[in-house]
Amino acid sequence: MSETLKTRILGTSDAEIAEAGQKLGRGELVAFPTETVYGLGADATNDKAVARIFAAKGRPSFNPLIAHVPDIETAERLCVFSPEARCLAEAFWPGALTLVLPLRSGNGISRLVTAGGDHLALRMPAGDVATAIFKAAKTPIAAPSANPSGRISPTTADHVKAGLMGRIDAIVDGGPCPVGVESTIIGFTNGATLLRAGGIPAEAIEACLGTMLRSPAADAALTAPGQLASHYAPGAAVRLNARTAVADEVLIGFGTIAGDLSLSPTGDLVEAAANLFRLLHKADAMRKPIAVAPIPETGLGRAINDRLTRAATPRD
Ligand code: TXA
Ligand code: MG
Repeated sequence: MSETLKTRILGTSDAEIAEAGQKLGRGELVAFPTETVYGLGADATNDKAVARIFAAKGRPSFNPLIAHVPDIETAERLCVFSPEARCLAEAFWPGALTLVLPLRSGNGISRLVTAGGDHLALRMPAGDVATAIFKAAKTPIAAPSANPSGRISPTTADHVKAGLMGRIDAIVDGGPCPVGVESTIIGFTNGATLLRAGGIPAEAIEACLGTMLRSPAADAALTAPGQLASHYAPGAAVRLNARTAVADEVLIGFGTIAGDLSLSPTGDLVEAAANLFRLLHKADAMRKPIAVAPIPETGLGRAINDRLTRAATPRD
C-alpha cells in the first residue's frame, strides 16, 4: 500500500463512533483503543479488508489475527466453547483475555484471519469505545496491535499516528490504554495452555480453572507466530537486567533502580505494564541504546519480561 491515504482522526462522539463503524463496514481500516493496546481493525468477514491489515502493517502473512466481538452471543455464534473456555469467558470478559477456539462451520470469518487454520483467536475487550465501534460495525473485527510489524505496540493515538499515518483510513482517539500490554492468550489443544502472557496474570487464570496452565511447546512459533523472537523491538539495542547505565545508554528503571525514566518508582507491576510501551517509545526516540532494570517474574512481570526479551533479541 502506498503512503497516500488520507487518515481521518476521529474522536469518540456518537457521530464519530457511527462513522468509524460505517468505515469498517465498507472494508476500511480503522485503528481504535482497547483497554490493552490500540488495535488496527478491519471487517473479519471481508478478505480484502483483512489483507489490507497485513499490507498496512507490513506484517508476515502467516500471522493469524484476533477477532474482536462486543458480546458473548456473537462469540458463541463463531466458535465452539468447551466448559473450560466458557468458565474463563464468564470470569474475565470483557477484558484482556483471548481464547483460541474451534470455529463453527459457516462462520463467515475470512481464512486470512486464522491464517488458514480452523481455530480462531477471540476476544471481547473491556472499554466502551471499542464495544460501541463493534456494535456500529455490526461485524466481528479482526485487529492486530496498530503498529508496523515488528515495532512496539501503541498505547496512545499518537503512537498509531507515528507508525501508520497515511497507511490506514482512520484513527479513533480514545486516550491512553489503561492496561498497556496485550491480552493474555489461552489455547485448549491438549489442555489449557498459555500461548502469550498478557494483561490478565496467568495465576488468575489458573485460580479460575483450578489447574496449572501448560507452557507452549518448543515449536510455539508455529502455533502463535506473533511470538517470533524479535517481534516487539525498538530501533535501538536493548540490554536487560541492568542496574546502572553503561556509556550513553538510557536506563529505564523500576522500583529502587531510578534510571533516567522509571516503569514504576514504587515497584508496582500494573503501573509498569501500563508504562512499558510508552517508555520504550520514549527511549527509542532518544536514539540511544536502551538498558532496562530487572523486573520480577511474577504476575504482570511475566508479560513485561516477555516483551522486553523480544525487544532485546537482535534482528538481522
Ligand atoms: O490485546 C490484544 O490482544 C491486542 C488488541 C488490539 O486486542 N491485539 C493483539 O493482536 O495483540 P496481535 O495481532 O498483535 O497479536 C495476536 C497474537 C499473535 O501472536 C498471533 O500469532 C496470535 O495472537 N494468534 C492469533 N490467532 C491465533 C490462532 N488462531 N492460534 C494461535 N495464535 C493465534
Ligand atoms: Mg502485535
